[in-house]
Amino acid sequence: MRGKFITLEGPEGSGKSTQAKMIIRRLAERGIEAITTREPGGTALGEEIRNILQHNQAGEAPCERAELLLFEASRNQLVEKVIRPHLEKGIWVICDRFMDSTTAYQGYGRGLPVQAVKAIHYFTVDGVVPDLTLLLDIEVSTGFERIAQRYLALGESADRFEQEERSFHEKVRAGYLKLANEEPERFRVINAAQEPEAVSSNIWKVIEEVLTEDR
Ligand code: TMP
Repeated sequence: MRGKFITLEGPEGSGKSTQAKMIIRRLAERGIEAITTREPGGTALGEEIRNILQHNQAGEAPCERAELLLFEASRNQLVEKVIRPHLEKGIWVICDRFMDSTTAYQGYGRGLPVQAVKAIHYFTVDGVVPDLTLLLDIEVSTGFERIAQRYLALGESADRFEQEERSFHEKVRAGYLKLANEEPERFRVINAAQEPEAVSSNIWKVIEEVLTEDR
């Protein structure tokens, strides 16, 4: 049987990567084999593209449509090299960001035409669409407080997206909520402002629902 494909989405500081690890742990307890990966990145080529996109590795910021296409290039590589082969082997894939990030950030955030953005990523994913998308929703200011703490602890600095104005991130968050509203069968909105353990149990309830529906 094909593995399940679950994506984690949400604004900055919503705790997606922590939750991805917690999902893997809970699935392992149930004897379900799963891998976690991320976007942009997850493949050698994808990680190179991630550096260009986040840290201006090329020394020149990409124009808006170039930015969108770089995300799509990283995504197609990840789909064909990692996601599709694992799902076909029956292994679940938990992905930290996927196509809805592009609609939220490049579509709603940057203001590129949303229908065109969606058409491009449906071309990119070539049929590999998430079975379930968990939107970890959090207020922009709370998310940024978390990121600031992380940077203090790790000595890192903000990337190109985190440096965008507050209004950009508000548009991203509103865009995500709109997407969730438009596709209620695929999306579940999770309150990510709670403690990680509480968020994790809410996520697990949703995943168990998905498991039960399949029996
Ligand atoms: P993150 O993986 O640390 O969240 O960083 C990825 C950054 O890239 C984040 O700021 C969101 C942004 N992004 C887009 O703008 N569009 C996309 O399609 C994806 C996958 C990420």
